Amino acid sequence: MKEGSNTFSNLGFILATAGSAVGLGNVIRFPYIVGDSGGGAFFAIYLMTILFIGASVMLTEMVIGYKGVAGAATSFEKLAIKSNAVWKNIGWVMSASSNIIFSYYVILLAWIMGYIWMSISGSLAHDPEAAKAIFTDIQTNVGQTILLSGLILAAVFLIVARGITNGIEKINLILMPLILFIFTGMLLYALTLDGFSKAFVFMFHIDFSAITTHVVISAVGMSFFTLSLGSAIVLSYSASLPKGSNLVKSIGYVVLLDTSIAIVSGLMIFSFVFTYGGDPSAGFGLVFITLGTVFSNLGVMGHVLGVIFFSALLFAGLTSAVSMIEPMLKSVHIRFNITRYKAALALAIPTAIVSIAIIFSLGGYFGDLNLMDKLDYILSNILLPLGGLGTTVFVGWFMHKSTVLEAVDNKLGIFFELWYVIVKYIAPVLIVIVMLTLLGIL
Ligand code: PHE
Repeated sequence: MKEGSNTFSNLGFILATAGSAVGLGNVIRFPYIVGDSGGGAFFAIYLMTILFIGASVMLTEMVIGYKGVAGAATSFEKLAIKSNAVWKNIGWVMSASSNIIFSYYVILLAWIMGYIWMSISGSLAHDPEAAKAIFTDIQTNVGQTILLSGLILAAVFLIVARGITNGIEKINLILMPLILFIFTGMLLYALTLDGFSKAFVFMFHIDFSAITTHVVISAVGMSFFTLSLGSAIVLSYSASLPKGSNLVKSIGYVVLLDTSIAIVSGLMIFSFVFTYGGDPSAGFGLVFITLGTVFSNLGVMGHVLGVIFFSALLFAGLTSAVSMIEPMLKSVHIRFNITRYKAALALAIPTAIVSIAIIFSLGGYFGDLNLMDKLDYILSNILLPLGGLGTTVFVGWFMHKSTVLEAVDNKLGIFFELWYVIVKYIAPVLIVIVMLTLLGIL
C-alpha cells in the first residue's frame, strides 16, 4: 500500500480541519452571542481575535503535530527540550478533553435528528409556547436520546476507525461541499426576505459603546471554541499531513471557511427572525424554538426549509464530532500498538457511558444536576483555554526555535517574528486574563 494511505491530501486536510471548525458553534453559539453582545461591535472584536489570537494558536498546534508525527502525548514528549514527562501528560489531558466534548456534542446531534424528523412529519409547533414544550420534551426523553445518540456515536467511531483516507478525509470530502452548497442556497433564499436588511444592520452595525470587557472576553472564548483549539484536534490532524505542506495557507482557508459559515448562518437566521418575528437573543432556543416555529408556519416550504436547515446542521456537527474522536484514538492506537478498530472499541465504551450519564441528568434523574452545562462550562472555560495556553507556551518556550522555523518553512515571511512574539508573550498572557475573568477571579 502506498504511504499516502494514512496521510491527508492538501484539500482533504483543509476540509477536515474546516469541518472540525465549522460546527454547531457557528450556527447555534455564534448568532446568539452576536445577538447577546450588541451585534456589529462584537463582530468586529471577534474578527480581530480570530485573526490575531485564533489563527496564531492554530499554527502552534499545527507545528507540534506536523513535527511530532504522532498523537498529542507522544508529539509533546518527542519535541520538548525539557520537562518531557509533564508535557506528555498535558497531551493526554488535551486529547481526553475533545473526547469529553464529544460525549455531550453527540446528544445535541441526537436532538437535531429529532428536529429533522419533526420537519419531515410536520410536527413542529406553530407557536413559541408549544415549541418550548417540545424542546423540553426532546431534552428529557431519555430513551429516544440514548437510541439516537447511540446510532451517531457508533457511526462516528466507525468512520474514524477507518483511518484518515478512507474515513475522516472521505466524510469531509462528501459533507463539506454539501454544507457549503446548502448554506449558500439558504443565504440566497434569505436575501429575498424582507428581514434581510435588518439582519445585515443587526450584524454589521458597529456600536462602540457596546464594547465591554465582557464582549472582548466572550470573543476570545468563542474564537477558541469555533476553531476547535486547545483539545489536540488540529494537532492530531496535522500529524497526518504530507511533508512539504503549507501550514500557513491551510490556516487561511480554514479561518475563511469558518468565519464565512458563521456570518452566513447569522444573516440567514436573523433574516428569518426579523421577517417572521422572534427574539434575536433567545439563546439555544434561537435555533430550536424560534426557527422551528418559523418553519412550521411556512407550510410546505417550511417543511422543506426545516429538513434542509437541520440536515445541514447535522452534517456540520458530524464533521466536528469525527474530529473530536481522532486525538484519543490516534494516541491509543500508536501508544498501545493496537489497530484503530480496537482503539475505537476501547474508547467508544467509556464515551458512551459518559453520554448516558449526561442524558440521565438531563432527564432529571440526578435532581438539579445538569451534566451537559457543567461539562460545557469546564471544557469551554477551563480545559480549552488551558490547552491553548499549553500549545503556545510549548512552541514559544519548550521547542527549539529552529524546529519551529522549519515547520513554518518561511511561509510567514517577515511576519514570523511577530507571530513568535504573539506566541511567546501576548497569547499566553491574554489567555490567562480571559480564563481568570471567565472564572470570575478577575
Ligand atoms: N468547532 C466546533 C464548533 O464550532 C466545536 C468544537 C470545539 C470542536 C472544540 C472541537 C473542539 O461547533
